[in-house]
Amino acid sequence: MEIHASIPALRTALKGRSRIVFVPTMGNLHAGHITLMREARQHGDTVVASIFVNRLQFGPNEDFDKYPRTFAADCAQLEAAGVDVLFAPTETDLYPEPQQYQVDPPGIQNQLEGEFRPGHFRGVATVVLKLFNIVQPQIALFGKKDYQQLMILRNMTRQLALPIEIVGSDTVRADDGLALSSRNGYLTPDERQEAPRLSRVLAGIREAAAAGERDFAKLERAAVAELNAHGWRSDYVAIRRQSDLQTPEPGDRELVVLAASRLGTPRLIDNLEFQLPA
Ligand code: PAJ
Repeated sequence: MEIHASIPALRTALKGRSRIVFVPTMGNLHAGHITLMREARQHGDTVVASIFVNRLQFGPNEDFDKYPRTFAADCAQLEAAGVDVLFAPTETDLYPEPQQYQVDPPGIQNQLEGEFRPGHFRGVATVVLKLFNIVQPQIALFGKKDYQQLMILRNMTRQLALPIEIVGSDTVRADDGLALSSRNGYLTPDERQEAPRLSRVLAGIREAAAAGERDFAKLERAAVAELNAHGWRSDYVAIRRQSDLQTPEPGDRELVVLAASRLGTPRLIDNLEFQLPA
């Protein structure tokens, strides 16, 4: 695996390469990331990963400084997964001057995750557009684990007519259902035991909807109550349309339930897609 930190070196390395598939990450890689890398291999000839902890997408009280950085272990995993080229810029490589031109996503950036992480999706969209311009992939892969991020990046790519196909990849989970996340490492052993409740609560909503429950507000409130009764501090549990993450109208059938809740130190997010019967 070739590793490059500077933009010019990366551009030289990728010159003339065919069908570039790109998987951006912030490192501290786990099996969820590695699944994306292996899937990428099926979509093209040159698999490019990036590792960059993007300051722009962290709020002032978030974990930017403490975000786990495990570069050597990450490289070993990427190499084993068959990644061809790793772009691992420093902050001065990617932001040699203050990033004054930014991508400002529309209103959805202030809902759900955005309500609790102001500016987060501006930071994500800005770094991803910049990475797209550097790597110039034909295809880019993102996990459904970050459902709102995937939707915002899909819409950015379409509206700005970027010549890139965005592929969404299913969430990889531990055997007990917990969605894999770098932030799971902040859980104590007791919290780790409790953590799969989040995915169970989402599955419960999917089942209640399949059984005919249409009072979504009631389901959302009950889910928050169950989590909070077990020591969670929930930001939201929200049933939305898959297409635009707005509140479902009668007749909408392709839905997703999204949740964010804090257990001890870490704030965990998860979501589950489901269909209502016709
Ligand atoms: P990061 O959290 O490192 O995630 C990198 C990619 O891995 C994202 O597309 C994310 O959705 C995916 N991913 C994380 N956990 C997953 C899981 N359990 N199953 C499947 N995919 C999973 O998301 C970011 O980094 C950043 O916001 C980034 C897009 C790199 C921009 O800085």
